[in-house]
Amino acid sequence: MTELEQLFSKLWINYTDMTPLAAKIKELLENEGEVIENDHIALRTFNHPSTGIDVLKQAFLTLGYEEKGEYQFTEKRLFAKHYEHKSGKYPKVFISELLLEEFSEVFQKIIVEKIESVESSYYKNPELMIQGRPWDISIVEYQKLLDESEYGAWVAAIGFRPNHFTVFINSLNKFNEVSELNDFLKSKGIKLNEAGGEVKGSPDVFLEQSSTLADSVEIEFHNGIMSIPSCYFEFAKRYPMKNGELYQGFVAKSADKIFESTDRGQ
Ligand code: NI
Repeated sequence: MTELEQLFSKLWINYTDMTPLAAKIKELLENEGEVIENDHIALRTFNHPSTGIDVLKQAFLTLGYEEKGEYQFTEKRLFAKHYEHKSGKYPKVFISELLLEEFSEVFQKIIVEKIESVESSYYKNPELMIQGRPWDISIVEYQKLLDESEYGAWVAAIGFRPNHFTVFINSLNKFNEVSELNDFLKSKGIKLNEAGGEVKGSPDVFLEQSSTLADSVEIEFHNGIMSIPSCYFEFAKRYPMKNGELYQGFVAKSADKIFESTDRGQ
């Protein structure tokens, strides 16, 4: 196994530990004779200098990734970049960060205090993205964050873990359309994220996506245990551009709705 394969294997173990649903779906598809190819993983963070995209991207750049697209999510107050491996053989990496300065002072104070309660050397670990949550957080703090941002509350409670892996539908044999895969999953009792419709995007933007709704996970807070949304599994079908190559980027309008897979409202 290459160093990069080892990293993806650790990421998958960390992810399915929090999201057993993804392992179950992988098994369901394998039982149909499919071999799953991962289109991309997604990581979430805060734009603090110790934890931002520039920190999380480092391990991937070292292993041969290059910076590609960047994306703004005005309403959710997020910024994101995506990375592709030089060989084109490994999954893409999508990293988003919450723009702290766009939130209330109370919100910023909670987050900055948490980040800075941990020694700065902690954040230099090349496996930071699977270290989980290094700080303590109370249920009251979590709820205050939730008032302003589902995403912010999620990162504060869950910490550093892959938010999702993504089945690359183009590589499947039996399922050619996102809707066909969706129907199969629903027939197995799996709930999908319906925000913005089950299928996000269209062939004109060269990308169609859907995702499960995040499972619930029991998280230990300072003063008790509470169930909150964990992570989800995503499904993507890519279309060729005019030059015949498959589009490799992301579509902000679709990703905006995919982020809502971890919202508590659905
Ligand atoms: Ni994604």
